[in-house]
Amino acid sequence: MKKKIGIVLLVILSLQNFSGCSRGIDLDFSKDKEIKNIKIGISLYDQYDTFIDSIADYFNKAVREKEREKNVTIQVNMVSANGSQSKQNDQVEQFVEQNYDIICVNLVDRTDPSMIIDRVKNANIPTIFFNRELVEEDLERWDKLYYVGAVALESGIMQGKIMNAICKNDFHSVDKNKDGKIQYVMLEGESGHQDALLRTEYVIDTITKAGYSVERLGDEVANWNRAQAETKMNNWIQKFGANIEVVFANNDEMALGAVEAINKKKDIINPMILGIDGTKEAIEAIEQGEMTGTVLNDSKGQAESMLELAYSLVTKEKLSSDIILLDGKYIRLPYEIVTKDNVEEIKKSIK
Ligand code: BGC
Ligand code: CA
Repeated sequence: MKKKIGIVLLVILSLQNFSGCSRGIDLDFSKDKEIKNIKIGISLYDQYDTFIDSIADYFNKAVREKEREKNVTIQVNMVSANGSQSKQNDQVEQFVEQNYDIICVNLVDRTDPSMIIDRVKNANIPTIFFNRELVEEDLERWDKLYYVGAVALESGIMQGKIMNAICKNDFHSVDKNKDGKIQYVMLEGESGHQDALLRTEYVIDTITKAGYSVERLGDEVANWNRAQAETKMNNWIQKFGANIEVVFANNDEMALGAVEAINKKKDIINPMILGIDGTKEAIEAIEQGEMTGTVLNDSKGQAESMLELAYSLVTKEKLSSDIILLDGKYIRLPYEIVTKDNVEEIKKSIK
């Protein structure tokens, strides 16, 4: 009798294990053996995105440090989906077939993660999405799905605060045509990207709530891209010339595109230019006075916490106490304002 129950139990347990639904009962025996080799598969939405490239760099650095610290081997296979969701789905499929321990996905289309979720859930491979945030309902579809990113709307608010501080100190340095309003143009990131939407909205919201009036001369999508931003900026310079008092860009690459356009027309126009990310080049542009400010999007922090989370999911070691896992799923790193006042300090901290 005992034996029979034992067999039935075993069958139930292995069935549960097979379907990947081991919720409630911990069937993971790997805990007991020491893990010496970890395989992480990462798919980037586009390897040529400067900010993503910086996350990738910091991630690889953190991996090497972890290997030394823990005396483990961490194999990282990092691939780029080159802007194609179906290509990304195939890449994840391959990671699954090759039994990766953890998969990290920087979604191409953040509204279309279902194929990936079905696949990793089926194969019981914990998956961390990063930077391109999927909607909550999708993340809720399985308890081993995670998201690492930033507190999106904070960046727009901070960009607005940089402007407010300048206005408070010397409104005329902004309002060059002295009509009491801030004439601006907006360079937007990819349409539909959570950061583009929130940054565009909250920067203006923050400025108007502080009591300043604004006039929008132009608002265009430049897809996070420097060259596209330069083209848009050239058109605006032709159309509005010196009337443009401020350029708000949803990221630094686009802000730098505006800098390039404006540098060629310095005799006509000299607006304030604000970006977001705190890339190396933007930091230099701030030092040189070509950009007014940016908001540091902590690629280092995001990369490092993603590795910490991945490591802890595989080894079952506790996540370090300085990383907060909100709702058991989200890690969100804060942003930070960068202007000429603190640029040297920031530069040291992100080395
Ligand atoms: C960054 C952009 C980047 C985008 C990619 C944003 O958080 O600010 O620079 O292009 O993520 O998804
Ligand atoms: Ca004005």
